[in-house]
Amino acid sequence: MIISVLTIMPDLFDSFLQAPVIARAVRNGVLRVEIIDIRDYAPGSFRHIDDSPFGGGAGMVMRCQPVLDALRACKKRNHTDSSEGRRDISAKSDARTVILSPAGTPYSQKKAHAFSETDHLILICGHYEGMDARIYPHADELVSIGDYVLTGGELAAQVIIDSVARLLPGSLRDASTQEESFENGLLEYPQYTQPAVYEGEAVPEVLRSGDHEKIRRWRLQQSLLLTRKMRPDLFAAHELTGEEQALLAEAQQ
Ligand code: ADE
Repeated sequence: MIISVLTIMPDLFDSFLQAPVIARAVRNGVLRVEIIDIRDYAPGSFRHIDDSPFGGGAGMVMRCQPVLDALRACKKRNHTDSSEGRRDISAKSDARTVILSPAGTPYSQKKAHAFSETDHLILICGHYEGMDARIYPHADELVSIGDYVLTGGELAAQVIIDSVARLLPGSLRDASTQEESFENGLLEYPQYTQPAVYEGEAVPEVLRSGDHEKIRRWRLQQSLLLTRKMRPDLFAAHELTGEEQALLAEAQQ
């Protein structure tokens, strides 16, 4: 897949893109990330990307023209007509365009899966006090990574790229994302490694028993208990299986 990022701070992605999971996905040919500097689409010597808001008020607003020209150029470059030959294996269908904004719908593991199945994801990073409202209809959706306000959408874009890249085949070394938190609607069970006893605290006996079925049930039980305690919202939304009900009842005793 291709992920295109439209930003006014391209340098912020330099070291991020060297992170092992991203670099591996790129190396394995399952991901291409292109960073597009919105300023390159702002004409004139001042490369004006923002201006003061109509009606007055503090702060600056991102202008339509550089953002939308950057978006159009990005789509055109990656979605050439098939008779001309597509630029890349990945750009099969239209792009999914997302604006990062605290006003967006909350990001989730489910959304990460949906994004990982698109051929071309375009992430537009907002800045300043916001964007000209005429930009928003050009996106398919607005996404927020949490109820707080960041200086710009770049960190949010990186959160999305990281969570999507690790779902692509060939990006994680052990390829096992199945048992992670959120994948089954529950938080992940506690993990332990050597030593078996650290400062008097021992690893639960069951994990050293070698009994895989017992370990599986213990882990599921721990996931349930942890989710009920830490994320009652997730727990309430989770439909308990018969086995899960039994494991919870057993923990009560
Ligand atoms: N830009 C500023 N704050 C943001 C947030 N919480 N999520 C996504 N983009 C943002």
